[in-house]
Amino acid sequence: MAIKIKTPKQIEGIRKSSQLAAQCLKHLEQFVKPGITTKELDTIASDFMKQHNATSATIGYKGHGVQPFSGHICTSVNDVICHGVPNDYTLKDGDILNIDVTTILDGYFGDTCRMYAVGDVTDEAQALMDATKECLKIGLKECYPGSRFGNIGYVISEFAHKQGYSVVYEFCGHGVGLQFHEDPEVSHIAHKNTGKRMRPGMIFTIEPMINTGKARSKVDESDGWTARTIDGGLSAQYEHTILITENGCEALTDVYGDY
Ligand code: MF3
Ligand code: CO
Ligand code: CO
Repeated sequence: MAIKIKTPKQIEGIRKSSQLAAQCLKHLEQFVKPGITTKELDTIASDFMKQHNATSATIGYKGHGVQPFSGHICTSVNDVICHGVPNDYTLKDGDILNIDVTTILDGYFGDTCRMYAVGDVTDEAQALMDATKECLKIGLKECYPGSRFGNIGYVISEFAHKQGYSVVYEFCGHGVGLQFHEDPEVSHIAHKNTGKRMRPGMIFTIEPMINTGKARSKVDESDGWTARTIDGGLSAQYEHTILITENGCEALTDVYGDY
């Protein structure tokens, strides 16, 4: 399928939804503390979206799962790579948590995730989160008209592997905006100068998942969604929704100004 080029009106709508998703992540920051359950965070996020006339794209989502996703957000703790289902798990000091928010506002989708340290985390965990954030940043540098999608996965995997981390290849970034998951698939491991070329008006995510141990994942049978590392190693992820502009790109989900 061809990669959609969004119209100025669509871009405006997707920018608004993306900003709201990012604001939701910011709002959640104050609540991420030892003692809160991931289900409670889910309720806070759901309330926030409601207050801003948006809905969650994840609740009831039927991607590849055996049952529809039951959270308004994904909450992925420690060895969970992605798609963690909010439940009665109580966060404890030293946990690392990923929250992934996808909003639908006026029919437009915005998708973003980031890491949170719960209390004091180990140096190993902090280093993994920092490196993963850096992976997203260097991926963004490859986003401009004429660049090819493979360049993103190339720089990310080179950087991560050099530091002894593995890069998850069973889950990818994706086109986004008019639907939750559109073409293209954005791999975080790839060869330089491969893949389709980026054009102004394309909107997609980069969302590297980086592991301390092996790259492989296994999905919890209990919920059909929660994807963990096979060896119990830690996993971290950061995600932005990105617009290709005439001369570069814009991270539509950036509200921290630090990409
Ligand atoms: N937001 C995730 C992504 O970045 C997808 C979550 S699908 C869900 O693509 F069903 F698990 F929520
Ligand atoms: Co995504
Ligand atoms: Co996401």
